[in-house]
Amino acid sequence: MQIIPSGHILGARIEGIDLQNPLSAADNRTILRALGEHGVLCFPRQTLDVDAFARFGNGFGGLEINVANMFHEPNHPEVMILSNIRKDGKPIGLGDAGQGWHTDMSYSQRIALSTILHAQDVPQRDGVPVGNTEFRNMRAAYADLPAEIATKIEGRTATHDFNKFWEEMRARPGNTRPPLTEAQRKRKPPVSHPIAYTHPIVGEKVLYCTIGYVTHIDGMEPAESAALLDFFYKHQDQDKYLYTHRWTKGDVLMWDNIGTTHNAIPDYGDIPRYMRRVQVLADYDYAAMLA
Ligand code: SIN
Repeated sequence: MQIIPSGHILGARIEGIDLQNPLSAADNRTILRALGEHGVLCFPRQTLDVDAFARFGNGFGGLEINVANMFHEPNHPEVMILSNIRKDGKPIGLGDAGQGWHTDMSYSQRIALSTILHAQDVPQRDGVPVGNTEFRNMRAAYADLPAEIATKIEGRTATHDFNKFWEEMRARPGNTRPPLTEAQRKRKPPVSHPIAYTHPIVGEKVLYCTIGYVTHIDGMEPAESAALLDFFYKHQDQDKYLYTHRWTKGDVLMWDNIGTTHNAIPDYGDIPRYMRRVQVLADYDYAAMLA
């Protein structure tokens, strides 16, 4: 395996490994370390099948079955399809996933270590890939916080709610997501997580608070909470934390879902885009895996 850093605030390319094959504990350790260090890892030119894709993700944590559970690969409820393609007039995948800044599964009691996408179809316009995915580095964002803000959020938690992002997507013109049912709401009630979250791989604090899912800072007056969240969102938004992945068919992209935020750019209209996705829970003993 060769790890080639992007030279930017996030990102590395990993060559010399075929993810169709089962990986050794040593391979998983190397990948985990690279994930902590670079945040976004691209394994180019991968042709792995759905079983191997799920197995690869499962090497790093349990795989989530999405609460909406609308679109997945046959016999693999944990492998979701993100796509704008329609067959017989019906969508084959979730067409609007991740279109806004967020961190996957921060709304869950068991948060996600990573999300992994395998690009089956990448839209292009005039020979240039569109439908990029943008990332921001929240380890760097935390490190840059003014000392008084870092002190203020020490030990504080924020509430994350799956329904917030869902409803914001539903409110967009032409969106066809149905409202979440009572049963779905009950399966993902709002949860609290530390704002300064200690990263399980690198052991450093990251700013774990995104506009996608956070509704308020717990135990704080609403006006103060809103002002502090506003500060965090503007702070995170700075270009110096930004990294953009431009997709090529066959890319397996694995990102750190604790130390980064991301945003999928919906600039491809009806040009086909098809991604397989697994969400990897942060439920393994990473200290033991890295030892
Ligand atoms: C996601 O947020 O999980 C989807 C990102 C993408 O499709 O680029």
